[in-house]
Amino acid sequence: MTRSLTILGIESSCDDTAAAVVRDCDVLASVVYGQTALHAEFGGVVPEIAARAHAEKLDHCVEQALEEAGITFADLDAIAVTAGPGLIGGVLSGVMCAKGLSAATGLPLIGVNHLAGHALTPRLTDQLTYPYLMLLVSGGHCQFLIAGGHDSFQRIGGTIDDAPGEAFDKTARLLGLPQPGGPSVEKAAKTGDARRFKLPRPLLNQPGCDMSFSGLKTAILRARDSVVAEQGGLTSQDQADLSASFQAAITDVLIEKSRRALDAYLALNPERPAFAIAGGVAANTAVREGLIALCAELETDFVAPPLNLCTDNAAMIAYAGLERMQAGEHDDLTLSARPRWPLDKRAAPMLGSGKKGAKA
Ligand code: KG4
Ligand code: ZN
Repeated sequence: MTRSLTILGIESSCDDTAAAVVRDCDVLASVVYGQTALHAEFGGVVPEIAARAHAEKLDHCVEQALEEAGITFADLDAIAVTAGPGLIGGVLSGVMCAKGLSAATGLPLIGVNHLAGHALTPRLTDQLTYPYLMLLVSGGHCQFLIAGGHDSFQRIGGTIDDAPGEAFDKTARLLGLPQPGGPSVEKAAKTGDARRFKLPRPLLNQPGCDMSFSGLKTAILRARDSVVAEQGGLTSQDQADLSASFQAAITDVLIEKSRRALDAYLALNPERPAFAIAGGVAANTAVREGLIALCAELETDFVAPPLNLCTDNAAMIAYAGLERMQAGEHDDLTLSARPRWPLDKRAAPMLGSGKKGAKA
């Protein structure tokens, strides 16, 4: 039996400052300070503001996580930190904080790939065994991965331009809804008519499970502009109908491409895998329900972590660090922060990039 491990996780790669304590598969504490209010007036995340806010909040976050877990540094086995990919100033803040703590306490330092944190979350929450198929869908990334081990990921498809979360955020801006766009578009869509605007389903007419979302943003812009030209502005019903039409288009694409990703998986491996989702857009109810129905139809187990472990958090970083430690791996004070860090080292880089750069 492997010995019990208690890991402190630190996350600061985008606009959430987070610290968490994980013991094996138990989340003892997970503290997240969002920065939404700090960036609100700029309509998007401002890297310098994010980095400074992380630097100010990290110590406090770590203290609070240890206190909520009811432990001290002496009870920890290691410190895991997001070392990329992400906004470099934020990643550096976290890495420097973790290095300081490691130097002061003598605890091993473990650098974690943020995307691996998302991709391993179904093992933390549902003890999923390798291999499984994963849809990682977030503000900066969107890819289908076969997870074969804590450091073994095969990308079988992904977005060739924007990530869906980015498209949700842009749509919210175009419609005058608050950031982050995902939750506000989802809320507006509840009272909307998804059939009112005919939006494209990009790349559905092409084989494979690559996706494209930039055309959808342009289509929403055109639809909005034609309503504004006709009526002189948007009513809340227009906002709801545009949101519902947009969400339906994204959902249709993700569901159909997931069906193809399951086919592609079966072409490579004989056994039907569990299908898991993670990343901020996995918090969307329409997307979840669509995938639940697809997996029921295909008699495939579906795993969706709770919403607070789908969006950025440090529990997933602590858990990914725990798997590295179990494999006998760790880093030292030479650990560097990486703005880009693809999970699948063999896959060719995808074209284009998300709002936070070509994260994957
Ligand atoms: O994983 P995450 O917290 O950060 C990274 O991008 O790594 O994902 C944030 C993204 C944002 O674009 C946000 O708008 C989107 O996830 N999101 C949602 C929902 N909640 C968050 N998108 C659609 N529906 C939601 N309920
Ligand atoms: Zn993320």
